Amino acid sequence: MYEMKDEYLTGIESIDAEHCRLFEIAEETYQLTMDEFIADKYDRLSDIFDELKSYTLTHFEHEEAYMKEHNYKGLISQIAAHNEFREKLNDVVIDRNDENTEELIKEVLDFITDWLVNHIYYSDKKIGEAL
Ligand SMILES: [Fe+2]
Ligand SMILES: [Fe+2]
Repeated sequence: MYEMKDEYLTGIESIDAEHCRLFEIAEETYQLTMDEFIADKYDRLSDIFDELKSYTLTHFEHEEAYMKEHNYKGLISQIAAHNEFREKLNDVVIDRNDENTEELIKEVLDFITDWLVNHIYYSDKKIGEAL
């Protein structure tokens, strides 16, 4: 469902490796939502979802540091886009005791991956093109 593709590559090795990991975690989360036979599914879903969230935040920090270091001219708009997304991520609260958890995670996963793919394709790739 979710995977790194050549068209998402920025050409910056460290950033591409992190984007790749983001796709992996998204895919793991997706596979988990599809697995009907797993015990403690909600706990595992909420753990892996936390991982996706925190890895995204760490990635933003690394990417911003890279752009600063290289005096990237689009830094301000990148930070603004990251900040907007940081706020959205903070608004997502997963309750592992709620039976709607699975639906919520599916929706949020869709939203997160959509955002990431668009952001990588239309914004992050420009970092690699400019530097
Ligand atoms: Fe990125
Ligand atoms: Fe970015």
